[in-house]
Amino acid sequence: MTGNLLVQNAMMVLPDRVVEGDLRVANGRIKTVAPQGGLVPQNGETIIDGTGLHLLPGAIDPHVHFRDPGNPEKEDLGSGSRAAVAGGITAFLDMPNTVPNATNREALEAKIALAGDKAVNHHGFFIGATNHNVADMQSVEGMDGVCGIKIFMGSSTGDLLVHEQKYLENIFANTGGIIATHAEDEDRLQSRIAQFKGRTDIAAHAECRDVECALIATKRASALAKDHDHRLHIVHLTSGAEADWLTSNKGDLITTEVCTQHLTFDQDDVEELGVRALMNPPIRYTEDKENLWRRLKDGTIDCVVTDHAPHTLEAKSVGYPNAPAGMPGVETSLPLMLTHAMNGKCSVTDVVKWMCAGPARVYGMKNKGSLLEGFDGDLTLVDLETRRTITDADVWTRVGWTPYDGMELTGLPIWTIVDGIPVHKRTVGGSFRGEAIGAPGCAGRAIQFR
Ligand code: DOR
Ligand code: ZN
Repeated sequence: MTGNLLVQNAMMVLPDRVVEGDLRVANGRIKTVAPQGGLVPQNGETIIDGTGLHLLPGAIDPHVHFRDPGNPEKEDLGSGSRAAVAGGITAFLDMPNTVPNATNREALEAKIALAGDKAVNHHGFFIGATNHNVADMQSVEGMDGVCGIKIFMGSSTGDLLVHEQKYLENIFANTGGIIATHAEDEDRLQSRIAQFKGRTDIAAHAECRDVECALIATKRASALAKDHDHRLHIVHLTSGAEADWLTSNKGDLITTEVCTQHLTFDQDDVEELGVRALMNPPIRYTEDKENLWRRLKDGTIDCVVTDHAPHTLEAKSVGYPNAPAGMPGVETSLPLMLTHAMNGKCSVTDVVKWMCAGPARVYGMKNKGSLLEGFDGDLTLVDLETRRTITDADVWTRVGWTPYDGMELTGLPIWTIVDGIPVHKRTVGGSFRGEAIGAPGCAGRAIQFR
């Protein structure tokens, strides 16, 4: 389904300038971008008054874990997609460590079908690499709705893992498209986990899964990409050392991303938040956080993502080190980054570059990520004037909590629009959660990757 819609009088964040104006979506595509007052309503159009709001391309989160199939009590493609659009995310890419793991064509087709029924925004899925599924990976290459291959080089949530060189070589040598790696070195990880046994203080997490663990794997994956001339995307960079190394070594084949939480939290937040802030790779130190910002601004880091990884507070309540790693974030990432922008950390244009155009470029999503005529009518209108304190009670994710509980945010989406169809709405100063619009499956498609 597609819609016809006119946004009037908004501050439009275009690729090269921010300008007040009107934007028309016809049959789901951006038809016209015009100066203020340039477009008059037509029959059958939904009219949105953008006065006082900023109009952004819909944000894209290329790193979420929606737990479907397998763990609907944490999230499913319906609840995850709803949470996403509440946060202005009009497209997501979902990771393969579901139950069962998404490691073959059948599992991918099932996920795409489920998303078609339940999601309200655009979607793509990773196939998970194992030691023995190269033929499966080949069988989904180029399929609509399949964004790439995910390799866990170090153990994390679930049992997906490929760390031996011969298997990694085999995958890089015999697949196409893009490989996304969780870069932590399994050998070092296991020896350090044994060494840190007995430590129950949360600070041990970053000491155990240390920078060296991440740097070794980042270098190994990069060498494989270069040896086999294979596109590589290194997910959730956490250390200044990796970012610095990539600055002079990423070349044309390699891209990378950083999570909102690694740009926001450091060791003091880990101390305060405890297992809520537990994730892999860990939240590190102030100097890492600042270096990640620097490398984001200088273009080394291509995009900002969430690694939305919902776990229930009940599961987390066992404490460190047995609590599951990961935190929700898909619905807070855009407001959080816009809050950083309004606090002077970056510009709103930067946020659009990192959360809209960046992910579209990295994954080759056609016609997405910019307010340009001919591009998809995926939009979000955000309020940069009002500041409000978010609490656990405000969220859409099924796990019902946010690591940002108690934080003051601005940049809440007032409208989220997918292919010209409104899917989420708030009123300025109204309820924090706002209102879901449309039935499951009312909008969104399996994304085409070039
Ligand atoms: O903290 C994490 N949680 N890191 C991962 O790599 C996986 C994720 C999850 O799925 O829970
Ligand atoms: Zn992840």
